[in-house]
Amino acid sequence: MTNCAIHPSILSADFARLAQELERISSADAVHVDVMDNHFVPNLTLGLPVIEAIMKATSLPLDIHLMIEDPDRWAPAYADLGADSVTFHAEAAKAPVRLARELRAHGTKSAMALKPATPLESYLDMLPELDMLLLMTVEPGFGGQPFLDLVIPKIERARKAIDGSGATITLQVDGGITTETIKRAAAAGADNFVAGSSVYGAADAAEAISALRNNAQRKDSVE
Ligand code: DX5
Ligand code: ZN
Repeated sequence: MTNCAIHPSILSADFARLAQELERISSADAVHVDVMDNHFVPNLTLGLPVIEAIMKATSLPLDIHLMIEDPDRWAPAYADLGADSVTFHAEAAKAPVRLARELRAHGTKSAMALKPATPLESYLDMLPELDMLLLMTVEPGFGGQPFLDLVIPKIERARKAIDGSGATITLQVDGGITTETIKRAAAAGADNFVAGSSVYGAADAAEAISALRNNAQRKDSVE
């Protein structure tokens, strides 16, 4: 993988010190923000007002991951904030094609996420509507869960489909990404990596980001 990106997730940051926590990851490619509504997932995090404050505190692009019901209704407002990308879950969207188009029309990259057990094949025809596809490598809802290797074949199939589509689509993975699991995800074809606990749990977050980047780029990634 020649071009890879590391998006630390602030879910594992200290929410009482967000400005300092954002500074710790200034060498990252973007900040991943997990929005949870206690309905789509059994956890509640933050929403528009906090994201507005985050935007003022960082110059990094914002990668918004919406784990919410009814994204058709709520997602465009996140695009209007100026997020670089807005990701909705396929399992929650009523009209994913319409929503992907609406996100682009609102000036953001359109992105769609699939939970580990959601088949990719039902969504292949809509790949050209997306700027990024997120394959969850844990069940969404919490940081610090172990990477699910059962998603690897889906990452490989998604890589083939994206390459075959001729479109420019980022292939993101989220959940359980460490310096070890990132090698397997990269070898399978992912090029964008969300990492929460492995970055924020490290004494030196910048060092953790650069170790992740190095391991994702290694050609002999799988041992
Ligand atoms: C989980 C979130 C992830 C989470 C990842 O539902 O979508 O972004 O922060 O955390 P780690 O890297 O600790 O698995
Ligand atoms: Zn996430």
